[in-house]
Amino acid sequence: MIDLRSDTITRPTQEMLDAMMRAKVGDDVFGEDETVNKFQDKVAGLFGMEAGLYVPSGTMSNQLGVKVLTEPGDEILIDEKGHIFNYETGAASVLSGVQVRTLPGKNGKLNTTLLEHTKRGHFDWEPRTRVISLENTTNKGGGVCYTKEELREIKTFADAENLLVHLDGARIWNAITETEIEPEFFGEIADTISVCFSKGLGAPVGSMLLSSKERIAKARRYRKMWGGGMRQVGLLAAAADYALENNWAKLKDDHRRAKEVGQVIFDSKFLAVDMNTLQTNILLFDTVKEPAEKVIEKLHQKGIQMIPFGPNTIRATFHFEITDEDVKVVKQALAEIGDA
Ligand SMILES: Cc1ncc(COP(=O)(O)O)c(C=O)c1O
Repeated sequence: MIDLRSDTITRPTQEMLDAMMRAKVGDDVFGEDETVNKFQDKVAGLFGMEAGLYVPSGTMSNQLGVKVLTEPGDEILIDEKGHIFNYETGAASVLSGVQVRTLPGKNGKLNTTLLEHTKRGHFDWEPRTRVISLENTTNKGGGVCYTKEELREIKTFADAENLLVHLDGARIWNAITETEIEPEFFGEIADTISVCFSKGLGAPVGSMLLSSKERIAKARRYRKMWGGGMRQVGLLAAAADYALENNWAKLKDDHRRAKEVGQVIFDSKFLAVDMNTLQTNILLFDTVKEPAEKVIEKLHQKGIQMIPFGPNTIRATFHFEITDEDVKVVKQALAEIGDA
């Protein structure tokens, strides 16, 4: 099977497993795992942030970000396609007692025109708007990246309105690959950043929250409270470090392959794609003649897996287990389906 359902399905390679076996570990709840400690410092440094906290998942990392930036009763602003709003089981309202207010952005991105006049909290009866939550790249938005100018504008707006910024950078590696924005810039615009090593980078587990020393110390307590304190977790951090060092450079091939397949869809009669929004490894396309489920079934019969993303929308996500040979097969299958 050619599995394009997600970039989370990759399995650790032998080299990654070897790196894990070499890791020097200790009890991380005591703060004594040297692999974790070094890795946290390294990633925080990369983004120009003071500190990092290695956690089991992007969901935990996002939720810790929300937790350390807010008080119960606060409101966070997010695009309606945002992961925190759609795919984190309502955790922000349960764990942080905040209200998540969605805005209708474009391809999962917010902008200052939308954000204008959204801040509330002048009166006792209003929620207090506290955080602007961004996602880069946007998952449900089709892997789209923010430009530097867009981010700078949002940061200027946030500062003027005294709002904080959380960045869900589950796929920030893809965004950096595509836009060539230097990592430190993200550290300048965001108060908390969540990055994942288990998406396109291919580690089996792990994400990291980046922020100030004070906020990370607070997040560390909540990670323990939420059951995320781990012991000899350097084994996993070593896999994440290996992924960062060796697999980040491969993302450009994922982007190229997604665009190659996108072109076949663009050229077909019964499938449609917006090539302007096809920027990274996530390919969202529409079915014109028949429901998405039907096209997915046909692809499945040809040995290809994709997932529905709406009644007429399909998502294909590229990752390092997909080869150029696989791409040829996928292009052929889509050409047949798209013109039949
Ligand atoms: C944009 C985004 N944020 C956060 C997450 C959550 O990551 P995890 O599955 O590790 O909890 C995902 C997962 O795919 C994601 O796409």
